[in-house]
Amino acid sequence: MSNFIKKTKKTVTIYNGDCFDCLQDIENESVDLIFADPPYNIGKKFGDFLDDWPSDKHYAEWCYKWLELCIQKLKPNGSLYVMTSTQAMPYLDLWLRERLTVLSRIVWHYDSSGVQAKKYFGSLYEPILFCVKDSKNYTFNATDIEVEAKTGATRKLIDYRKEIPTPYKTTKVPGNSWYIPRVRYRMPEYEEHPSQKPEELLERIIKASSNPGDIVLDPFAGTFTTCAVAQRLSRETIGIEMQSEYFKIALRRLDIASHFNGEELRPLDKAFVRKNGNGIRQETTSLQNSLFDV
Ligand SMILES: C[S@@+](CC[C@H](N)C(=O)[O-])C[C@H]1O[C@@H](n2cnc3c(N)ncnc32)[C@H](O)[C@@H]1O
Repeated sequence: MSNFIKKTKKTVTIYNGDCFDCLQDIENESVDLIFADPPYNIGKKFGDFLDDWPSDKHYAEWCYKWLELCIQKLKPNGSLYVMTSTQAMPYLDLWLRERLTVLSRIVWHYDSSGVQAKKYFGSLYEPILFCVKDSKNYTFNATDIEVEAKTGATRKLIDYRKEIPTPYKTTKVPGNSWYIPRVRYRMPEYEEHPSQKPEELLERIIKASSNPGDIVLDPFAGTFTTCAVAQRLSRETIGIEMQSEYFKIALRRLDIASHFNGEELRPLDKAFVRKNGNGIRQETTSLQNSLFDV
């Protein structure tokens, strides 16, 4: 008997279980792209799991074990994106660069209006490693992820280094510093989870490093953002999550089931209280929420 629950609908497969068990169920060298966003060892609570290892070393040793499995599952031309805390990333970087080619060290940065550190520079970014198995054969759809090229193009500059001077291009492949706002309560994509990643972040990764029909795997799926975006972009997708309360989000978000163990799966009720122009508190609906800035 297996230690996990597995549900499949069309191009989506989701597991509720420990990734060490569920990854064994996936064929070796079958996955095109893996996005791994594990617990960061910073003391967060994910359901009944506390993200707290006895030391950095213990945490790194745990990461090496699931990374080894992920590498096994990746096709020879596959790509792996890994996130962790700024303090833990050096361990993973040193370990990974002996097994894969690290092509980019990405900084995902954002702003925060919350409480900020006052005695040191507070952390407003999270690192992402982009690695490939074969640096001569991997997917990178540069034109699918181009962004506005702000400097030269908006100032209408001419590039005189070219043989025939030409205006600067108006678009470019993004560099390795990505400003993408974090998921906020009032955003339509928000789910109840302490570290949900933005769809915009996953969209860039999935578009760049996979093609329609490819298989995209997330071994620490949380709210299954990776699977939701992969599904929307016509990729096949596999998500693994240990906590059943987040697995239930997947069943609903990915349109796999409307009930789980007799419970109806309903979207989060995001009614909240806000002052109107006269200082009077008024209830708003989730539809109205999306009209407010975040
Ligand atoms: C940082 S969160 C992932 C968030 C996700 N990227 C999203 O957008 O919602 C890490 C997730 O890993 C799950 N997790 C922790 N240990 C796990 C394990 N051994 N196997 C599978 N999932 C695990 C946690 O419950 C948590 O939801």
